[in-house]
Amino acid sequence: MAHRSLKRLVWSGIVALFAAIPTAPASAEPPEKLVLCLACHGASGTSELENIPSLGAQRPMYVLTQLFLFREGMRVTQPMNDMAKPLTDDDLREIGDFIAALPKPKPPADTPDPVRMARGQALSREHRCSFCHKADLSGQEAAPHVANQREDYLLQTLRAYKSGARRGYDATMAEALQPLDDAAIVELAYYLSHYR
Ligand code: HEC
Ligand code: HEC
Repeated sequence: MAHRSLKRLVWSGIVALFAAIPTAPASAEPPEKLVLCLACHGASGTSELENIPSLGAQRPMYVLTQLFLFREGMRVTQPMNDMAKPLTDDDLREIGDFIAALPKPKPPADTPDPVRMARGQALSREHRCSFCHKADLSGQEAAPHVANQREDYLLQTLRAYKSGARRGYDATMAEALQPLDDAAIVELAYYLSHYR
């Protein structure tokens, strides 16, 4: 992510945080330590911000693992390395459980192109994406929920796994993407984000 756009994101996150304080929802109020997080990631489970992933319905084990990797500097990306630094192991578990209970991300408003969806689904079957992430792409255990994740974030993160810039908990995703070229990654990001 370009440095300038990250700075803008941090600011929009802080602005949204202050805007959100007086009108915090009465029900399912996030714990104090999650207010800033959800200003960026979307309190409804769906992120409205470029390149920031939605967290709604995310698998608690995946969230815990990723926060651990951020905290230990193994998945290198700001602001998450700083955000995770003060979190205790108990915080990671509590956050994972809270996030898992948020509504799953909303699909994008545009009608998916049936030709691209069929191509994406075929790639997903052929490369066993749906085997680990499940046929409905809702994930299981350490394999994340990827249905209706933001397309910009998916594209960026799949390319980062492929290039080695994003280190996973293990080499699963680098291996899964090894036979795929960038054109296929573009189709997969489209398919996952537009999944209905
Ligand atoms: C200023 C905006 C911002 C704030 C505040 C923020 N995040 Fe993030 N978060 C991001 C970005 C950007 C990424 C994606 C990083 C990347 O591209 O690898 C991310 C990634 C994540 C991920 C990984 C999601 C995935 O699908 O892999 C989790 C989990 C997460 N953040 C949780 C949190 C928590 C918990 C907090 C609060 C302690 C928090 N975030 C605060 C911007 C933010
Ligand atoms: C053998 C099981 C397995 C297969 C096959 C697999 N994945 Fe994954 N996937 C995982 C695991 C486990 C993770 C978490 C890795 C980590 O620690 O970063 C993951 C992470 C991801 C992420 C990151 C999501 C996020 O929120 O950051 C995306 C996107 C993804 N996989 C898409 C795919 C696609 C597309 C395919 C097919 C080409 C695929 N996966 C194949 C197990 C799998």
